[in-house]
Amino acid sequence: MVERYVISIDQGTMSTRCILFDHRGRLVSVAQKEHRQHFPKPGWVEHDAIEIWSNLQRVVPRALDNAGVGPDQIAAIGIANQRETTVVWDRRTGVPVGHAIVWQDTRTDALVEKLRREVGDDFFVEHCGLSPTTYFSAPRIRWLFDHVDDLHERAESGEVLFGTMESWLIWNLTGGPAGGLHITDATNASRTMLMNIRTLAWDDELLAYFGVPRPMLPEIRSSVESYGVAHALLPDVRIGAALGDQQAALFGQTCFAPGEAKCTYGTGSFLLLNTGTSLVRSRHGLLTTVGYKVTDQPTVYALEGPIAVTGSLVQWFRDRLGLINSAPEIETLARSVEDNGGCYIVPAFSGLFAPHWRSDARGVIVGLTSYITKGHLARAVLEATGWQTREVVDAMNADAPLALKELKVDGGMTANNLLMQFLADVLDVPVVRPMVSETVSLGAAYAAGLAVGYWPDLEGLRRNWHRAGQWLPTMDPGRREAEYDNWKRAVERSFGWIR
Ligand code: G3P
Repeated sequence: MVERYVISIDQGTMSTRCILFDHRGRLVSVAQKEHRQHFPKPGWVEHDAIEIWSNLQRVVPRALDNAGVGPDQIAAIGIANQRETTVVWDRRTGVPVGHAIVWQDTRTDALVEKLRREVGDDFFVEHCGLSPTTYFSAPRIRWLFDHVDDLHERAESGEVLFGTMESWLIWNLTGGPAGGLHITDATNASRTMLMNIRTLAWDDELLAYFGVPRPMLPEIRSSVESYGVAHALLPDVRIGAALGDQQAALFGQTCFAPGEAKCTYGTGSFLLLNTGTSLVRSRHGLLTTVGYKVTDQPTVYALEGPIAVTGSLVQWFRDRLGLINSAPEIETLARSVEDNGGCYIVPAFSGLFAPHWRSDARGVIVGLTSYITKGHLARAVLEATGWQTREVVDAMNADAPLALKELKVDGGMTANNLLMQFLADVLDVPVVRPMVSETVSLGAAYAAGLAVGYWPDLEGLRRNWHRAGQWLPTMDPGRREAEYDNWKRAVERSFGWIR
């Protein structure tokens, strides 16, 4: 019998990746292409959505070629994507009205402050599970209306369409201007600030606050659902899933039971805890979000602690400071010293996300003395990821009924064993890494495979999960708490830099 595979597309902040998975959840082939990052002003981050669509058209055939697999061997396509990034395009021509505004972009700062002052957080949290911040999509749509002539009128008539990256890609894959589907899934919609977190429908009051006309919005669908055929690329293959990348990782880690959590370490890091079918409202700076929605089944919710800068701090250390030539070298450099020498780096490059939500914060390096070497700085870079995770886990433990017992990790940074040990030490729980660390892609594949019956059920997927590494806490508790205290003092120094 001819073997069949699932295609997973991970449209991330830095690149677009296509991975083929087999029935046992093993990675069969990968093709990836980076896209340009545009920084037109301090705090602004943009992507070219056309470039991303053309990268997707290249990586999919390449992944098939690498594996010697034909389109007739593909059971389904699943999509995971960078969330919150906002694209608006012309329905007739398929051309975006400008660059996509990326989730890290802080240009909506003033607008968000105004909303918080005038309306307050409670109204928004009650409706969509989120407090207004520059992170989410709706303020960006509002910003576009305020800065692009006639855009609001064109949105009212449905001449221009809004979407996050999965919407944009599905629209193009399924036909584009010649009749593409304009849809999104509930996980992505839950990051716009426009969807009602209970009903999973666009919320009239939120639409009114942001002035967003309904005709420009995609239809909200389940995350696991056979949407339609990818006419533009693989004419006989169905798209069976779309999820925000972090929710895809929750799925790929098979965190299907309430109380299970994962943290994905990429450009930023995102800790999600499955809270089952109940909505947990955070009192400690976390977000309430949709975990996933399987067709005809109740919505599964999650609590999330997003950290804006972790892997991108290592990139900055490599590309802007030039202290290492490749990301993995940071581990060797950090191991050249015993400890951080008293030095802490708080990477508040886009302000601080969870649990602080301070857009007025900017990065600081504290504790510098003439003793400090680049080895100490390398340690401080890695430790920043550990301490930021600790802050989120503390918030999670304060909000959730049960304290976290272990943390499943995935993503590029989990190849760094020094960091994994440090994480176990500062969290004081075991840290566990699965065999497939490309969990975002695996989750999108699992979801699509479920939609078309390639995998029968969630239990079957659980059986595919295998542990590859585990780190146990070894740090002396006194030292842990003293260092955590230093970290907290460093964080306070980052506050209030932008006035
Ligand atoms: O919320 C932003 C997140 O989805 C971005 O993830 O992995 O593309 O940096 P990543």
